[in-house]
Amino acid sequence: MTSHERSCIPQFLYGTAWKEGRTQALTELALRIGFKGIDTANQRRHYCEADVGRALAAAYRDAIVTREHLFLQTKFTSLGGQDDRLPYDAHADLATQVAQSMASSLDHLGTSYVDSYLLHGPMSNRRWTAADAEVWAAMVDARAAGRARRLGVSNVSLRHLEQMTAAGAEAPTFVQNRCFARTGWDRGVRAFCSERDIVYQGFSLLTANPDVLRHQAVAHIAAREGSTPAQVVFAFARAVGMLPLTGTSNAEHMKQDLASCSILLSEDEVRGIETLGE
Ligand SMILES: NC(=O)c1ccc[n+]([C@@H]2O[C@H](COP(=O)([O-])OP(=O)(O)OC[C@H]3O[C@@H](n4cnc5c(N)ncnc54)[C@H](OP(=O)(O)O)[C@@H]3O)[C@@H](O)[C@H]2O)c1
Repeated sequence: MTSHERSCIPQFLYGTAWKEGRTQALTELALRIGFKGIDTANQRRHYCEADVGRALAAAYRDAIVTREHLFLQTKFTSLGGQDDRLPYDAHADLATQVAQSMASSLDHLGTSYVDSYLLHGPMSNRRWTAADAEVWAAMVDARAAGRARRLGVSNVSLRHLEQMTAAGAEAPTFVQNRCFARTGWDRGVRAFCSERDIVYQGFSLLTANPDVLRHQAVAHIAAREGSTPAQVVFAFARAVGMLPLTGTSNAEHMKQDLASCSILLSEDEVRGIETLGE
């Protein structure tokens, strides 16, 4: 990825999961407060992608932001991750399911392309399967057709990534994972990503790490910076090269999360937080 391409990726992604009837209002609020990156999925079980699209339409109408200045990311979710509100024909082959899900996402989001399209999760927790390869190939086709700028995978282990690339698949541009301090903040996957210029997106940075938020070392930095422990965790995430997600429903937290971009940690502090959970 060129430095220009990297600079087009915002410093924070606003996540739209689990907001149900508040999805439109909260996404709109996040855009008004200044988020330039939106993460969603065509998975009605946890997301209301159509309401994200309504929020975008309102933001465009009120000149809060333009499509070109936004980073929109959505996901293909296979049958195992869906309920009965499917964005594709359950009996169609996987390539058709990807094409149908993508067409539905573009319709929901009122756009002709997304900036990033993620495979929500591999079919098996243990390995990268032939079915995953089929879905990935269909996603590559969608990108070739101009419907996605970049591709990524989510909920993957180091093993998935190694098997995926060993099988000859094109490496993803993004990896999006839940990030636990007790695994060195997904150290193995992050190392794989940094060696290949893959952008690691971390979610549940706060909810997965309550002990870190309560830790004295983090409280000490927060006191020095006049910030909150949550902001220190986001600053840490950015310092180790992550692109963090936040799903906050609180306007003040939205502002604080964005403001964390200006918190600078020393190398010692970064290394200290990196090993806090181990
Ligand atoms: N790929 C996947 O499978 C997957 C899975 C899960 C999530 N995601 C994505 O990641 C997004 C974020 O999910 P998440 O699990 O990281 O977060 P989340 O579950 O949406 O929750 C973030 C939590 O942190 C709190 N919070 C946020 N900013 C805070 C601050 N500055 N100070 C104190 N508390 C703060 C929020 O509380 P308040 O609301 O009170 O601020 C909320 O309880 C989702 O919306 C979704 O887009 C993807």
